[in-house]
Amino acid sequence: MHTIRTAFSTPILVRDMEESGPVNHRLMEIILDMESRTPGMKRSNIGSWDSQKDFLEWPYEEIALFKKWVINGIKEITLKATKQKYNPKAQDMLAHAWANVSRADSYRKIHNHESCTWSGVYYVKSDLVKEKSVSSGNIEFLDPRMLCIQAELPNSSFGSRVRVVPRAGRLVIFPHWLLHYVNPVEDDSLRICIAFNVKIESQSVKRRGGTMLPLQKAQQFAMAETDAPSS
Ligand SMILES: [Fe+2]
Repeated sequence: MHTIRTAFSTPILVRDMEESGPVNHRLMEIILDMESRTPGMKRSNIGSWDSQKDFLEWPYEEIALFKKWVINGIKEITLKATKQKYNPKAQDMLAHAWANVSRADSYRKIHNHESCTWSGVYYVKSDLVKEKSVSSGNIEFLDPRMLCIQAELPNSSFGSRVRVVPRAGRLVIFPHWLLHYVNPVEDDSLRICIAFNVKIESQSVKRRGGTMLPLQKAQQFAMAETDAPSS
């Protein structure tokens, strides 16, 4: 046998939802209204507003549709991570989510998410792609192999960062343990996003969900089981 294996790969799903414009517009209205009526939560956010983690329980049709997008994304990245061997059922997913509104000078410190299976973010509105700066408001993921930075191997991926541009309608899903941060917003543009955590509870893996509720049952609007889209 003679081979060079690629070990410890880390999946990051980036998917642009087609024709999400009208839904995003309504989500923006819902989130800005909530921002105007409730105080922000303090997490890794600096200078921006975070809602409570009850976003998935807000009784709006658009949020029910958002859950469907999340379920499909979770299925897709789980199939990828398990080499197509595990297609999780929606009823096995627990989740919570919170909305974020970011304006000038706001950013997010380096952090990972609480213990779960997958974490993610969906961008409802982002003016930042018009920015000259390539870093303004972008989310950047750090190489989880912490000692890689000592390798000093030019042109390798060791110790590199992965940057994702926050475009409206873009869904990003990644392992909860993957460290990331958000660069400061450099002008008066508005960025609105929804962050979420999902735990998959299978018959063989039963874990406590904490504040998470069943992703399929928590919403007011009924939602059918959906299959993962072909990539
Ligand atoms: Fe995060």
